[in-house]
Amino acid sequence: MTTATAPDPVRAPAATAPRTFSGIQPSGVAHLGNDLGAIRNYVKLQDEYDAIYCIVDYHALTSTHDPDVLRARTGDMAASLLALGLDPDKCTLFVQSHRPEHTELAWLLATVTPVSWLERTPTYKEKRESQPDDINHGLLTYPVLQAADIIIYKATLVPVGRDQAAHLELSREIVRAFNNRYGETFPEPRAVFTDAPTVLGTDGVRKMSKSLGNTIDVLSEPDVIRKQVMSMVTDTQRILRTDPGRPEVCSVCQLQRFFGPDFEELWDGERTARTGCVDMKRVLADRIVRHYAPARERYLELQANPKLVDEVLSAGANRLAPLAADTIAEVRQKMGLR
Ligand code: AMP
Ligand code: TRP
Repeated sequence: MTTATAPDPVRAPAATAPRTFSGIQPSGVAHLGNDLGAIRNYVKLQDEYDAIYCIVDYHALTSTHDPDVLRARTGDMAASLLALGLDPDKCTLFVQSHRPEHTELAWLLATVTPVSWLERTPTYKEKRESQPDDINHGLLTYPVLQAADIIIYKATLVPVGRDQAAHLELSREIVRAFNNRYGETFPEPRAVFTDAPTVLGTDGVRKMSKSLGNTIDVLSEPDVIRKQVMSMVTDTQRILRTDPGRPEVCSVCQLQRFFGPDFEELWDGERTARTGCVDMKRVLADRIVRHYAPARERYLELQANPKLVDEVLSAGANRLAPLAADTIAEVRQKMGLR
């Protein structure tokens, strides 16, 4: 586990556990990139920290406009997170729109946030390319709501993938702008990365992402997982089976690091061309299927019992009500609202 803004490892919690917060888009069932890049850290941190995890449906509205799709994907993401190891007795899991105070705080923070900061956000620029006919205001203000999500609970650690680094930096800037104008109120949150902060997709080039269709869907049936792994692009310079492989640039080899202690031996087989890309993919597919089999079973159970998932989510939102109310009251008072 590594942090974005400080080289030191995350310290052990003091008497009162520091708070960690992360948000995840309701993009449907979680994929390998979500798990290796972020969810593994959610699971780890819930043992030692006051951990809060949020499915960010307000954020999703900036790109997902079909109500039934959004509702279904929110449920799928909740079931995924529970299946992958979030334990409602150890952490708080909830849906963003169930705590509408987030949007009130986002408005208040918007008044300390220069538009220029938002216009230069990389994800905003990407969205202008990917959905040019739908540059809604929510896309521009997205990072302000993200800052509100985190600081309404005064969380200091935020487990995320590397693609969220710029958003986290902006959250810190917004905190500084607020504290400068209205007095010390919020701590500056910092990102916490796993040792796989960017997982490439099956195309071997771009970040694994549902919207790019290059995911490995670890909670799917084994056949789906196998097909996705077998479709992975490997070392494009390795043309013949007898050519030596280059594990450093091969996504399949890189992923082996997370599914067995013997990955160096596997890499050696590639370098000496004892094994080929297809052999490597078969090994990886088997290991992924095996590794995620218990989570897949839990996922199917949860899907069959949506009431249980809803109960977890509403208990989570209820538990957070006093914290959110306290922060809103403090901020209103500091800003001069009567
Ligand atoms: P999202 O689906 O964009 O809300 O992502 C949920 C979490 O997974 C965020 O913390 C992302 O940074 C992380 N994540 C998503 N895709 C990847 C990836 N390909 N590699 C590493 N982390 C990722
Ligand atoms: N922007 C994040 C993503 O796309 C999701 C998110 C919303 C988030 N609010 C957050 C992440 C607060 C961390 C903290 O993945």
